[in-house]
Parts: sequence; C-alpha cells; structure tokens
Amino acid sequence: MAGRHRLASLSIGVLLLLLSARSSGRPTDKCPDDKSCRNPRPPVVLVPGDLGNQLEAKLDKPSQVHYICYKKTDTYFTLWLNLELLVPVEIDCWIDNIRLIYNTTTHTTSSPPGVDIRVPGFGKTYSLEYLDPSKRSVGMYFFSIVQAMVEWGYTRDDDVRGAPYDWRKAPNENKEYFLQLQQMIEEMAEKAGRPVVLIAHSMGNMYTLYFLNQQPQAWKDKYIQALVCLGPPWAGVAKTLRVVTSGDNNRIPVISPLKIRSQQRTAVSTNWLLPYAHSWPKDKVFVQTPTTNYTLQDYERLYADIGFSEGWLMRQDTEPLVSELTAPGVAVHCLYGTGVPTPETFQYTDKFPDVEPTVVNGDGDGTVNLRSAVQCKRWAVQQKQPVVLKELPGNEHVDMLTNFTTVAYVKTVLLAP
Ligand SMILES: *[C@@H]1O[C@H](CO)[C@@H](O)[C@H](O)[C@H]1NC(C)=O
Ligand SMILES: *[C@@H]1O[C@H](CO)[C@@H](O)[C@H](O)[C@H]1NC(C)=O
Ligand SMILES: *[C@@H]1O[C@H](CO)[C@@H](O)[C@H](O)[C@H]1NC(C)=O
Repeated sequence: MAGRHRLASLSIGVLLLLLSARSSGRPTDKCPDDKSCRNPRPPVVLVPGDLGNQLEAKLDKPSQVHYICYKKTDTYFTLWLNLELLVPVEIDCWIDNIRLIYNTTTHTTSSPPGVDIRVPGFGKTYSLEYLDPSKRSVGMYFFSIVQAMVEWGYTRDDDVRGAPYDWRKAPNENKEYFLQLQQMIEEMAEKAGRPVVLIAHSMGNMYTLYFLNQQPQAWKDKYIQALVCLGPPWAGVAKTLRVVTSGDNNRIPVISPLKIRSQQRTAVSTNWLLPYAHSWPKDKVFVQTPTTNYTLQDYERLYADIGFSEGWLMRQDTEPLVSELTAPGVAVHCLYGTGVPTPETFQYTDKFPDVEPTVVNGDGDGTVNLRSAVQCKRWAVQQKQPVVLKELPGNEHVDMLTNFTTVAYVKTVLLAP
C-alpha cells in the first residue's frame, strides 16, 4: 500500500510428474479415492501488495538532481527497500530514480532517462519475505508465513514461490507479469499434481482479481484451489487521496511529505486505488477544504486543484481494470483487520494542498477501510465456489501477516484433508 507503514514491510516438474505418473496425475484429477496419487499439500504462490517486494536499479543518467547522487552504476542496486537511501539529501537521488514519467499521448509510464528498474526474484520468495535485503526486521513482510510453511513441509522457491512485480504500475502496464504468473502456476500445479493456492496481500489482491478475471473458468478449475485474500482493498483506500494531495511520509519524520509526494503521485497504482463508487456513498466527503468538499464524483476537479492533472488521466486509464468486481470464480478466503483507526476523510486548511490535513478516521486495518475489505462478500451469491470472510479484530494492515491467527488460518486452508 502506498499508504501503509512500511518502516513499522521450470519445468523439471513436468518430467517428475511423468516419472511419478499413475493413471493421469492431471491437476483436475482430485483423486477422490486415492490421496496418495498427489502431493499432500497444494503449491502456493504469494502475490505482494504495493511496496511489497524489492526493486533494483541500474543507472546511466544524463544528469543528476544533486551532486552527491550517482549518475552511473556498474551493477543493479537495491532501490526498494534500502533505508540508507531514505535519509536527507540521499532521498532526492532516490526520488529521481524511483519516480515514473507519464506520457499523456501513449498513457504509459517510463523511468527517467538512464534509469533501468528491474524486479528481482520472480518465482522466489526472498524479495517479498524481507523488503530490505539486509533483513532488518522493519522490512519483514511475508517471512512469518513462509517460515511457518517451511515448518509444515514446504520448500522455498519450489512449492512456495513469490510473484513480485513493479508495484508502481497498475495491471495495464504489467502484461508480461501476468503471462509469467500464469506459466508459473501451470508449472507448479503440474509438478504437484494438484492446483495452486494463491495468497495475496493488499493491492496484490487487486492484481490477482484482474488476473483471474482474464482466465477462462476451465483454466481456474484446473489450476487454482483457492485464493486467500489478506487485507484486500476492493473498493480502494481513502488514504490514497491524502497521498496524492499532500503526500504521506508514513510518520517517518525525516521525510518531508511534500517531498515524497512528488514521487508518490507518479505511481500509477496509487491513483488506481482511490475509492470506488461501487461501494462508497456518492456524497461522502473524502477531502475537505475551507471552500470545497470533494467526493468521489469530484476526482477530476481535485486533481486539477492540487496541480496534478495527469493523475486524472492515470485514474481514467486504470479505473475500469477491476471496477466491476467480477467474481474471481475460485474459492475465496477473505481475511481483514478491524478496530484500527483508518483514515477516511482529510480536512485541509486554506494552505491546501501543501499542508498536512486533519485526519478523520473510520474502521479498518489502519490502511484499508473496512468497507473496502468486506466487498468479497458480494461474491458469495455471484459464484458457486465458497466465499469465506474472517474478521481479524485488532489487526493492522501489515502486522496481520505475522499474526498467529492469520498463519493458523492459512494452515487450515493448505493442510485441510
Ligand atoms: C510520448 O510518446 C510518443 C509516442 O511514443 C512520443 O512521440 C512522445 O515524444 C512522447 N512524449 C514525451 C513527452 O516523451
Ligand atoms: C462541506 O460539508 C460539510 C458537511 O460534511 C458542511 O458542513 C460544509 O458546509 C461543506 N462545505 C462546503 C464548502 O460546501
Ligand atoms: C492476532 O489476531 C487476533 C485475532 O484478530 C487478535 O485477537 C490478537 O490480538 C492478534 N495478536 C497480536 C499479537 O496482535
């Protein structure tokens, strides 16, 4: 999540399958009478959220924003998460490397000239277990879940694998990613002789829904056992409005919100996550100034008033991607935190938008509003596969990944007979 506390986040299988094949061993073969014909555990793919996996950069830039910034590097270095780059002055270099440039003709984004960004570790777990390769606990993310799975008999990078992506962008600019994801799922299912469980966190759920909505039902029946949704923002996240308006330093005092705003605004995914009309009241005021109340019908005007008109284009490019909330067509387990004050409305003084707002909170997990997380409930009547909702009282958005109750729930999904 753009707005969560980040400092408080081949095909050998086919051969093996052939060697061990009994009658058929297809993933669709649920082996009703003979469990020994398949792997005891479903393979698992982890889909992280916004800011939820490492990004690397290599530089050969025509210019630098500050003399201390590197213009050229020989190799890729960790751009996210690297705490050493988020200190004063260094952060200016960091922002100039991680920002995206939006082309209003093509409606696509690119890195600044001479900045090459890559996503390390597709198919592996390391880049989402710890965001910071030095494994500082502040950057711990999927580690607890993966470590518990290893204790249950899983093997990292084999039957539990990660699907990291460039979370600055929305699915419309990550087409290659979905092909890679599909291929990995098929390989894992074929190797295990049974379908895969997807575990997504935060924006990863929106990515996963988009992916599943593209797949034919026969493909999903064959390859997907279930989707476990952790903190899903189906109806967007109100906090993103603060992010685009005045920036959000996530309470890291050394970072000026206005400074980080320039980078945060350029992430298309932030604009994708603005609250959606399918679930929020049309007259609900999210942003308030002495002269204007902005509801979700006023995004175009809001973007204009904050001096970020490109944001409106980004919103229009991405809003339709999952705004229908079409049922995923797979069994769903929806886990969400409640009881944590969660920003819902932002009240600005006449210094709007260059000032910190007064925040009015509602219910949720501190980042994802409760109203947004529970939208999975609508699928219970829209699909034949089961939809289970589980409230996790007192669970914060990222901390829920390390909570015993969450881990125990995942175990029941994976190890149920
Ligand atoms: C946007 O993309 C078009 C088509 O590729 C290109 O001609 C144009 O120069 C780009 N605009 C900017 C500002 O880079
Ligand atoms: C904004 O809405 C509040 C109530 O939510 C109302 O009291 C206030 O007068 C409105 N302000 C404007 C400028 O319309
Ligand atoms: C874990 O989640 C449960 C269920 O929501 C909650 O009661 C408990 O307080 C949480 N534990 C911690 C350490 O946060």
